[in-house]
Amino acid sequence: MKIVFLTGAGVSRESGIKTFRDHDGLWEGHSVMEVASIQGWRNDREKVLKFYNERRSQLDGVEPNDAHKLIASLEKDHEVVVITQNVDDLHERAGSTNVVHLHGELRKMCSSMDKEKTLPYDKDIEIGDKHEDGSQLRPYIVWFGEDVPMMSNAIKEVGTADVLVVVGTSLEVYPAASLTQYSKGACRLFYIDPKPSEDTPGIEYFTTIKKVATEGMEYLVDILK
Ligand code: OAD
Repeated sequence: MKIVFLTGAGVSRESGIKTFRDHDGLWEGHSVMEVASIQGWRNDREKVLKFYNERRSQLDGVEPNDAHKLIASLEKDHEVVVITQNVDDLHERAGSTNVVHLHGELRKMCSSMDKEKTLPYDKDIEIGDKHEDGSQLRPYIVWFGEDVPMMSNAIKEVGTADVLVVVGTSLEVYPAASLTQYSKGACRLFYIDPKPSEDTPGIEYFTTIKKVATEGMEYLVDILK
């Protein structure tokens, strides 16, 4: 059986990483557009670098939770693909081997002329730190206003799933949220979230499991047995 997960910030909440939209629209004290848009980068590179330097060092202090681990454990018996909007590395650290990062990865930085030129992001990026192509180094993050190059790959994975499980996402951000609409007719659909979106197109076909990610995943694993 092929199980495809689409995860968002909620799956990492119980590891101690804040979600984006549960705090009056602020993300760690900033508006999302200030720190996660190409316009925000153009307006204030120093602020954006400081923000992602902090997010990257935060990763060293957090661990995968049981939801990440249960997702990874399904690989024992099934083909599992994780499509995540998260930029953390908790799915990989829990043992998932097939992870598609739609919105980039906090463990990588890149050239600001060509995002495909990536390097490990293993120390803070400062203004003036350059890629060998001469451009300012930046975090390897898909900001608002930028293409989502992994979308076509993600659409193919969803289209061949026998089970599609959405976990911990408000489904407010496109094109990622549109992935709920690419499953084949016979695919079983589940949505784990304590406050699930009700108005995303296609979401009415999903069985909603209104629980936090760890509890919801335990429940799901039982159903799939
Ligand atoms: P959001 O912050 O929009 O949504 C988080 C979701 O997690 C909400 O639906 C919450 O109800 C749910 N949630 C909260 N605690 C949970 C828990 N313990 N277990 C399970 N679910 C829980 O985050 P995303 O939907 O991931 O993009 O946001 C999508 C994108 O918007 C992000 O990837 C990011 C952001 O701007 C970029 O930075 C490009």
